[in-house]
Amino acid sequence: MKKQAVFLIAFTAVVDMFAFGLIPQPQQMKRNGGEFEIQGHSVEEVAKSATFERDVTVQPEGYAISVTEKGITVRCSDEPGAFYAVKTLEQLGRKTEKGTVVFPTVEINDWPAFRWRGVMLDEARHFFGKEVVMRLLDLMAAYKYNVLHWHITDDQGWRIEIKQYPELVKYGAVRPCSVKYDTNAFYKEQHKPLFYYNNEKYGPYFYAQEDIKEIVEYAKARHIKVVPEIELPGHVRALLAAHPEFSCKGETLARIPRCAWSIEDDVLCAGNDEALAFFKNILDEVCELFPSDVIHIGGDECPKVRWEKCEKCKARIKAEGLSGTKDLQAWIASYFARHLSKRGRRTAGWDEILNGDVPKSAIGMCWRMSSSAGAGDALVTPQLAAARGYDVIVALSPYCYLSRNQGLPDDPYPYYTYTNPLSLQKAYSFDPLAGLNESESRHVIGSQACVWSESIWCVFDLEWKMWPRALALAEVMWTYPKDRDYAEFRARAAKQRSRLIKKRVNCAPLD
Ligand code: ACM
Ligand code: ZN
Repeated sequence: MKKQAVFLIAFTAVVDMFAFGLIPQPQQMKRNGGEFEIQGHSVEEVAKSATFERDVTVQPEGYAISVTEKGITVRCSDEPGAFYAVKTLEQLGRKTEKGTVVFPTVEINDWPAFRWRGVMLDEARHFFGKEVVMRLLDLMAAYKYNVLHWHITDDQGWRIEIKQYPELVKYGAVRPCSVKYDTNAFYKEQHKPLFYYNNEKYGPYFYAQEDIKEIVEYAKARHIKVVPEIELPGHVRALLAAHPEFSCKGETLARIPRCAWSIEDDVLCAGNDEALAFFKNILDEVCELFPSDVIHIGGDECPKVRWEKCEKCKARIKAEGLSGTKDLQAWIASYFARHLSKRGRRTAGWDEILNGDVPKSAIGMCWRMSSSAGAGDALVTPQLAAARGYDVIVALSPYCYLSRNQGLPDDPYPYYTYTNPLSLQKAYSFDPLAGLNESESRHVIGSQACVWSESIWCVFDLEWKMWPRALALAEVMWTYPKDRDYAEFRARAAKQRSRLIKKRVNCAPLD
């Protein structure tokens, strides 16, 4: 073929992608130049009324779309595939002024690069409520995310009703103050905005079990699995507000959750058998509420200062033959991972949980790039986790934490951290398999956008920080690096931004 012809085909493909603005970009797409036009109420309605055929040769979650002048046919082997075909068609179609719906004639073959395409939402620091979560689930579905990792317990808030222990929300879902940032004043040298304690009661805010069931069902209808994170043994100050007897200090601990951000020294007493039994009961109730095959137990950032001085914790270390408090954190993760295994669930946890002998069914969520992050525990990189035989979700903080400053010249919202901004381009440059060999890569089941909410107070702020960067990460999780080109993505992202703004999503500028 002549050079010009090759160039023209390549150029046409790029222009087509740009014109449609599809995100994530399909694996294979060919435009035929024509259009399918039909009388229809809406693009969504016409997309759903395509002809669907079962084809077992199509990959899990994948689909093939054929739009001809006569109509739309979809082939897929499972329900998520059919659902994602509709999501793609919703981005392809447009409503005309004549009241018709028009689709370009195309042939698409598409499938995801990773099977775990997550968004983590922190509702412990700030609570957004059912409507915001449902709106988020709709947006996640539009871009083919399939896991909501729901961070609903932490030092600053316990946001899930547990029927056996109603005092958890009574004491844990309300705090007497919060840290607030001044958006105009910065401690430049600390890369942090100026902050103050506002002394305003925050809460009680929590999800009743009926709300949770509704959210889980809503997510399921969009092929999204809800994975709750019930943090232990650190990040439990809100739980200890309700049950100070399960801290190493016992009943003397104040009955209020933490008001400040960052890490709390008071953690679960790992030597207290009653504390372990109590936590098992909580996890059992959580398993009843969440059908997910995976339950997240946190496991990150656990300071050891209380354990060092606690007689019960010292006795546990001796009885279990551990070398010291640093092993206690991994021991407790293993303890609960084994409990969840008996309930038929896999345990997920931040990378720190893999420092002991958690069952190989556990999933490591790798977030750190250095052991100086967190509470200084030994770093378990994606490579190390995979080499130890664990499945891995790669959610490295510099690329995946949307709570990071996005480096915009003009930004009305404050961020928790201003070091190493995470721009749209940097998010798009992320490769979850970077540095891994083939056998290690097989352990990587996916990645995740993480939205920590220390500095996020409302839905506008939340959406501003999520979008458009969550568009970039959606494509990172669906496609392969060889097919990614930032300039071309950026053009599509601009189209998607207009669509998001039309839906009244508070999407930030691209840069
Ligand atoms: C984390 O960012 N502490 C997982
Ligand atoms: Zn203790």
